[in-house]
Amino acid sequence: MKRILLFGKNGQLGIELHKSLSGIAEVTALGKTDVNLADADAIRRVLAKHPCDVIINAAAYTDVENAEREQELAQAVNAIAPGIMAEVCKKNGALLVHFSTDYVFDGYGSVPYRESDLVNPINAYGRSKLAGEQSICTQGVPHLIFRTGWVYGLRGNNFLTKLLSWAGRHITLRVVTDQVGSPTWSRDLAVVTAQVLAQTPGSLGERSGLYHLVGVGAASRFEFARAVLAWLDGYPGIVAREVQPAPTSEFPSAVTRPAYTALDTSHFVGVFGIPIPGWQQSLHQALLELKVEHDNHPV
Ligand SMILES: NC(=O)c1ccc[n+]([C@@H]2O[C@H](COP(=O)([O-])OP(=O)(O)OC[C@H]3O[C@@H](n4cnc5c(N)ncnc54)[C@H](OP(=O)(O)O)[C@@H]3O)[C@@H](O)[C@H]2O)c1
Repeated sequence: MKRILLFGKNGQLGIELHKSLSGIAEVTALGKTDVNLADADAIRRVLAKHPCDVIINAAAYTDVENAEREQELAQAVNAIAPGIMAEVCKKNGALLVHFSTDYVFDGYGSVPYRESDLVNPINAYGRSKLAGEQSICTQGVPHLIFRTGWVYGLRGNNFLTKLLSWAGRHITLRVVTDQVGSPTWSRDLAVVTAQVLAQTPGSLGERSGLYHLVGVGAASRFEFARAVLAWLDGYPGIVAREVQPAPTSEFPSAVTRPAYTALDTSHFVGVFGIPIPGWQQSLHQALLELKVEHDNHPV
């Protein structure tokens, strides 16, 4: 059985990965209280203490707004730490699995981005994550970098949980139409990653590289919100009845977000032969699960 060292165990993806991987590997899962990824020496110490076959890095500095003010910290966690992990993987013959972001693109495109498309991040978070990809690639270590986007789960701080909170308080929601991406359920990302790792380890090294891995398709924030509300119709505690289209300019922010970051997953599917669900199908499934949880534990 493979030994996996998982960073980011308390994040929305890390929680799901921990569950999905436990059946196929011996998993040691670490959070920020176990190791601060801004501390290079601490990372080296923890890596020496936990020899493994695969390192999975689901940890990241993910606060896109604060990354503008804390650029050094974002660089340490998102760029330097993955480079150290890659260096140690290379020394120990381990595989590194890392997650990157659709925000490496500038968002001026209008068709889903492919892996070969030009990167050009327009904010500090995107720049730090791109630097992380590069620090792994320059080590020449077997790696899988999965670029994902618009990750949501049933808990934590994400666009779905924000919508659910707004929908419990406001009859009309105003949501932007001019930000388009590929909504991705953290569960899908974890299940698919576990399926990849369950494939023979030898062939994984040969398929080392960068892959786009998101819910299939594209949606604006507005379309996503409308789908959520349609499926929540009649759901207890939801008072929202309507989603109105709004421009991004209506919500001033300290950070510029790329407008269009849908990703094309055909390279991933072609190489690994693992199907990825469409974003609507997954959202529906996630909301059904939420309903079952609510029915079992009504507030
Ligand atoms: N969320 C999205 O929409 C999105 C989009 C594109 C790509 N991604 C990428 O997908 C991956 C998973 O994201 P996610 O949504 O699961 O993020 P998340 O929920 O914010 O989880 C990130 C985890 O990283 C940990 N972390 C942050 N700073 C750390 C530090 N200095 N030392 C150790 N741990 C630290 C956090 O610990 P604490 O909980 O203790 O703070 C948290 O558990 C990341 O690589 C992210 O860049 C996410």
